[in-house]
Amino acid sequence: MLSIAHALDQQLRAAMERAFPEACEAARQAGAPLSPQLAPASKPEFGDFQANGALPLARPLKRAPRQIATAIVEQLQADPAFQALCEPPEIAGPGFINLTLRSTTLAAEVARRLADPRLGVAPAEGAAPVVLDFSSPNIAKEMHVGHLRSTIIGDSLARVLEFRGHPVRRLNHVGDWGTQFGMLITHLKQVAPDALTTADAVDLGDLVVFYRQAKQRFDGDPAFQEASREEVVRLQSGDALSLKAWGLLCEQSRREFQRLYDRLDIRLEERGESFYNPLLEAVVEDLRSTGLLVEDQGAQCVFLEGITGKDGQPLPLIVQKSDGGYNYATTDLAAIRYRFAAAPEGDGARRVIYVTDAGQASHFAAVFQVARRAGWIPEGASVEHVPFGLVQGEDGKKLKTRSGDTVRLRDLLDEAVERAEADLRRRLQEEERQEEEAFIRHVATTVGLAAVKYADLSQNRNTNYQFSFDRMLALQGNTAPYLLYAVVRIAGIARRGGDLGADPGAAVLRFTEPQEWALTRQLLQMDAVIEEVEHDLLPNRLCAFLFELCQVFNRFYDQVPVLKADEPARTSRLALCRLTADTLRLGLGLLGIATLERM
Ligand code: ARG
Repeated sequence: MLSIAHALDQQLRAAMERAFPEACEAARQAGAPLSPQLAPASKPEFGDFQANGALPLARPLKRAPRQIATAIVEQLQADPAFQALCEPPEIAGPGFINLTLRSTTLAAEVARRLADPRLGVAPAEGAAPVVLDFSSPNIAKEMHVGHLRSTIIGDSLARVLEFRGHPVRRLNHVGDWGTQFGMLITHLKQVAPDALTTADAVDLGDLVVFYRQAKQRFDGDPAFQEASREEVVRLQSGDALSLKAWGLLCEQSRREFQRLYDRLDIRLEERGESFYNPLLEAVVEDLRSTGLLVEDQGAQCVFLEGITGKDGQPLPLIVQKSDGGYNYATTDLAAIRYRFAAAPEGDGARRVIYVTDAGQASHFAAVFQVARRAGWIPEGASVEHVPFGLVQGEDGKKLKTRSGDTVRLRDLLDEAVERAEADLRRRLQEEERQEEEAFIRHVATTVGLAAVKYADLSQNRNTNYQFSFDRMLALQGNTAPYLLYAVVRIAGIARRGGDLGADPGAAVLRFTEPQEWALTRQLLQMDAVIEEVEHDLLPNRLCAFLFELCQVFNRFYDQVPVLKADEPARTSRLALCRLTADTLRLGLGLLGIATLERM
């Protein structure tokens, strides 16, 4: 209802202007223009909106706020455009103006959305390029549940921003550079030289084991350390054999990651840490020339403002180690500089977003500060870290397999799908339904993956999240199956003869029952919720809205006849059913969740 709210805001402003021209002018002069303070009604019995702007006028006008509210309402009522939108306003409490939309306004809004493939969600004014850095696993290491969270949350944010019309670069900042490759290559040379010259000589699982062994040797064996360092130098100086080995290792991981992205229907553009390697020197030079760089015990650093260590002294961000090597932070500085730099030298982003676990918050705070002080973040552009909590098992501890190993993502998705299939088969048996195997497979896959995604997205991402197959697959509660089932329920109405394709137009729509109004009002909030997610980057807001929508819909559908109703109620109710299904499909689609017609 954003367009309606916008119109009301304008009408209220004009009414205040007409009622109290001097006070409005004085407030403008003072640099604090008066606002009608329009907000959604705090309770349904107060109508749709409330305007609290009369209260702050009481003091300058030396009048009771109720009197002021009355004067504003008089002016509002003199405006035919306002009268067309709203019932006569009511003044409540100390001077709140309660606004209730006319039923014709609501019906027209329903009709407008039914006729619009975007369901009334306008594209953003001033669409601006976004860089969204998410997923970002590390080569030769297994992707873990933290990366899964980043992948799922990042994808959903990308979808929302794209839907609002922003060009989004979905960047996979994979860890594909650095000392770990020196270790790994040195170790492989000795134990599995084939892996360095032949594609697919080992699989990723083995590679992960080799990496662990290499790390162990590195930590305990000075000769191995030395050899690894030399290997890194060879790689960084572009030695052909080292580069080839590195390329093979990356390819191996890349294919494994891609399988997971394909399965989750997630698109990403790989631009790993190695991409920024040629730019690192310039970053350090840039920091030197702006006077930010300080040498501290042989390392090049920038001392952070307002970020202190235990001793109260400013903490340094190290950008070049004493041995001349660069680190994770240097790469991120190069990345942020590149992302904001104008094309063709950079991405020309106006908003850069990083989705990682909350543990990296101080890293990003430091990188953002240095980038800002170095002047790399343009005026008006924004940079945001989107943190998330840990994934825990049902015992509240770190998620592990029964044998205590880290959970492999492939296994996790497999188990979700298997359990969804078992649930489905049980239900089919109870309902004595016969279904084809292909149907069962399709439904189980859709439900299983939806459950994993939705369970993650429906949590406020800032909190730790307890992973539970039973909870995420339940048919009741704030779960994917519950939402998917509502879509199926509506599709069933069409199968039983309800026309869900028609565009009845506002003139035909007639709503009389409170359940209809409740559903209408819920449906009309979709645009505001999407804008909220676009700004706050909290997908759980969209989940909460969709869950609430299903509950309101189910109440409507259980209490009010649809197919058996007489006209014009039947057509009007079918229109609400269709808008509900469309809203759920769009909303779930923005969460990266596919819907079903039957389940
Ligand atoms: N590879 C890192 C990790 O696994 C995440 C990278 C996040 N993005 C970034 N620009 N630092 O923790």
